[in-house]
Amino acid sequence: MKVAITSDPLDKVNAQAIVIGVWKDQPLGESAREVDRLTDGRLTRLINSGDISADFLETSELLAVADVSASLILVIGLGKREDVRESHSYRVAGTAAKTIAAKTRKSVAFFLDEVTSVDAVVGAMVGCVGQDLYRKSKNSNPFEQIWWHTANQNQIDRGTILGEAANLTRQLVNEPGNFIYPETFTEHCIRTGAAAGFSVEVWDQEKLEQERCGALLAVAKGSEREPRLVIMRYIGGDDQGGIDTASFPIALVGKGVTFDSGGLSIKPSEFMFDMKMDMAGAATVLGAMQAIANLELPINVIGLVGLVENMISGSAFRLGDVLTARSGKTIEVHNTDAEGRLVLADLLDVALSYRPERLIDLATLTGACMIALGRNVAGLMSNNQAWCDEVLHAANQVGEQGWQLPMFNDFNQTIKSQVADIKNVGDGRYGGAITAAKFLEEFVADTPWVHIDIAGPAFAERPLAWIDAGASGCFVRTLVRVVENLTEK
Ligand code: BES
Ligand code: MN
Ligand code: ZN
Repeated sequence: MKVAITSDPLDKVNAQAIVIGVWKDQPLGESAREVDRLTDGRLTRLINSGDISADFLETSELLAVADVSASLILVIGLGKREDVRESHSYRVAGTAAKTIAAKTRKSVAFFLDEVTSVDAVVGAMVGCVGQDLYRKSKNSNPFEQIWWHTANQNQIDRGTILGEAANLTRQLVNEPGNFIYPETFTEHCIRTGAAAGFSVEVWDQEKLEQERCGALLAVAKGSEREPRLVIMRYIGGDDQGGIDTASFPIALVGKGVTFDSGGLSIKPSEFMFDMKMDMAGAATVLGAMQAIANLELPINVIGLVGLVENMISGSAFRLGDVLTARSGKTIEVHNTDAEGRLVLADLLDVALSYRPERLIDLATLTGACMIALGRNVAGLMSNNQAWCDEVLHAANQVGEQGWQLPMFNDFNQTIKSQVADIKNVGDGRYGGAITAAKFLEEFVADTPWVHIDIAGPAFAERPLAWIDAGASGCFVRTLVRVVENLTEK
């Protein structure tokens, strides 16, 4: 998908469709006035008659306007000025793009004037790409060319990089488990690293055994597919004489369960169906690494993903098994469906070996987080309030929704085991997002750490106005913003 600035006038621009916006409580902007002029006042009359709505995200189509080379002008409602939130331009551009992409349109020009922003460019790129990867006749037909009127080159460049990153994450999450498994996900990491400019180190089964990653390996035991652990290093700051001596202000860690059947604690079919998405944390880290490298941010960032398939067979790990994690802690398995925290236990321990100053992990970790916060809000849990505030601030800056859950010491007891150091579930089902985070906290030592449970927002059952159902690409932009904020310190 190509994105570029156009200075062509609206009636001449070389595009099949044009987008303009109208405010509910403001006079027509420059481009809307131009459409009004070209239609001899029809736009104003249609707004006044109520046929065209300026309500937020309402869309109306003007077809075959005389003397305009594009066959469609999409008018999108911008709502009231005072209701504008950070996500406003992302949602406006996404909704317009998603609407236009219902039919094949190779090129689309956005004349959104005052709502043009980096987020708008990302919204347009995300909005025209759907989850129907394997349909011949698609619901969403991605544009080949996007034009922006009234943008500056910096907005276009940043928007394109972030849009490509979000769509990479989304594509990997939307791919089914028979195509994306630890080995193939690893290939995507290698390819992305080579193109964007970061190093990729792969740990295979043998290396994972040498490194005594007993928790991660246990989850992989029931699968025919070998697990992988991938270490991605982007050196944008000082390398202190080489990649092995470079220091990392931040490590990004992602859960990559390429399919979660639940293992012997098997999931019912209706809960298992979407579990190709259980690698969204890892896909988010990969997308963010791609964007960070393409933006050439002046900082070192290390990304680690743990890739396994949680399956059932005669060699699957059992309930009651005791695992020894890489850190040396012993874990009693009470439920094989609480596998994400086992993968992360070893992954976080590997991350610590690079002595990062700060950690963020992302995981589709618990259904309980969705019970607590709903489908569209990520849960944040942390051992360091200042660091958590920085991550929440970055999420607010880009208009992504996250909310902190408490980590009171009283929760520590819930993961005590009678047999081993800890067990992999809490007591009963209450506070399940938090007891999962308490388990992870055992593996981060004193490093400032934020855990982001994206079980809800990573994958949508139903489409929204601005994005198809399926993978959302959530928190790619937040991660990049967190890293950018660190570079400005
Ligand atoms: N991958 C699931 C969590 C999940 C559920 C993500 C729904 C997205 C949508 C995770 O591995 C899991 O199964 N968690 C269990 C933990 C329980 C056994 C303690 C859960 O949430 O039920
Ligand atoms: Mn599970
Ligand atoms: Zn899982």
